[in-house]
Amino acid sequence: MPAKRPKRDLLSIVDLGDDLAPLLKRAARLKAERRRGVLRPSLKGKNVAMIFEKPSTRTRTSFEVGVHDLGGHSLYMSPKDLQLGRGETIADTARVLSRYVDAIVYRAFRSQDEAELAKWASVPVINALDDREHPCQIVADLLTLSERWKGRFSGHRLAWVGDGNNVHHSLLLGCAMVGLDLSSATPEGYHDDPGIVSTARELAKKSGAALSFSTDPREAVRGADAVYTDVWVSMGEEAEQSAREKAFAGYQVNAALMAHARPGALVLHDLPAHRGLEITDDVIDGPTSVVWDQAENRLHGQKAILETLLR
Ligand code: CP
Ligand code: NVA
Repeated sequence: MPAKRPKRDLLSIVDLGDDLAPLLKRAARLKAERRRGVLRPSLKGKNVAMIFEKPSTRTRTSFEVGVHDLGGHSLYMSPKDLQLGRGETIADTARVLSRYVDAIVYRAFRSQDEAELAKWASVPVINALDDREHPCQIVADLLTLSERWKGRFSGHRLAWVGDGNNVHHSLLLGCAMVGLDLSSATPEGYHDDPGIVSTARELAKKSGAALSFSTDPREAVRGADAVYTDVWVSMGEEAEQSAREKAFAGYQVNAALMAHARPGALVLHDLPAHRGLEITDDVIDGPTSVVWDQAENRLHGQKAILETLLR
């Protein structure tokens, strides 16, 4: 009998390694095929459990529709409805679910819980966002940029304005992996996790990506080909709302800030957006905004992720 292959998790975007580039190509192909009405049942007979500790519009829907497109079955589970909510351990939950399903998608408050589930599950665990990373989002974002830039990342620069949060962590690592330059502006006290920055710097040495960090949004955006922002208050940080709104006041992506980017610079936001806070209506609804493509590409990205991990 052939040896059983070890299961593969996606906790950090780095876990995709050399599979990231082919995965983006596969996602583009799945998108083109879906538009022609062609769906391939590559997940036929497979079940995917989805545990969401926090709300979700895009991630949940795109995984559910994606699994269905691929001929599989998904089960949405809120911890409230699981014994997990009554104190059953993550380890026991992981071992039980692994006897029923072929993969577990998990949106967690804590990255430690994400790692614990992955440690005990014998099936792939996919991080659907935690406090440290949001890898599936960045797959969709890179797909979106690659569509606009004819598959080329090198020679382009993306700017990030806002929080050094989960989305920025995965973006930083993802840019470093594919060789896309990234200039980030985050306020004092809201910079990235230093461990993520040092991993990104190592990856960037190989890919040639230039990564730069500052506290000045104008400096980050100057000459950029695309500008990306996210909420100032992530899920779970609601108690910090007023302190954060003060700290981020100068970090709004508006027309005045966009005037420093290259003419025609793309605008990205992972959504949900807080219009009038981190981004203004005219910018998010402007002609160079690609936010709806990002949202759509979550679907094609999730399908390519599932195929890659369940292959
Ligand atoms: N961007 C994103 O992950 O959105 P949801 O929280 O709606 O899933
Ligand atoms: N940084 C945000 C992303 C939401 C998709 C959060 O964690 O709430």
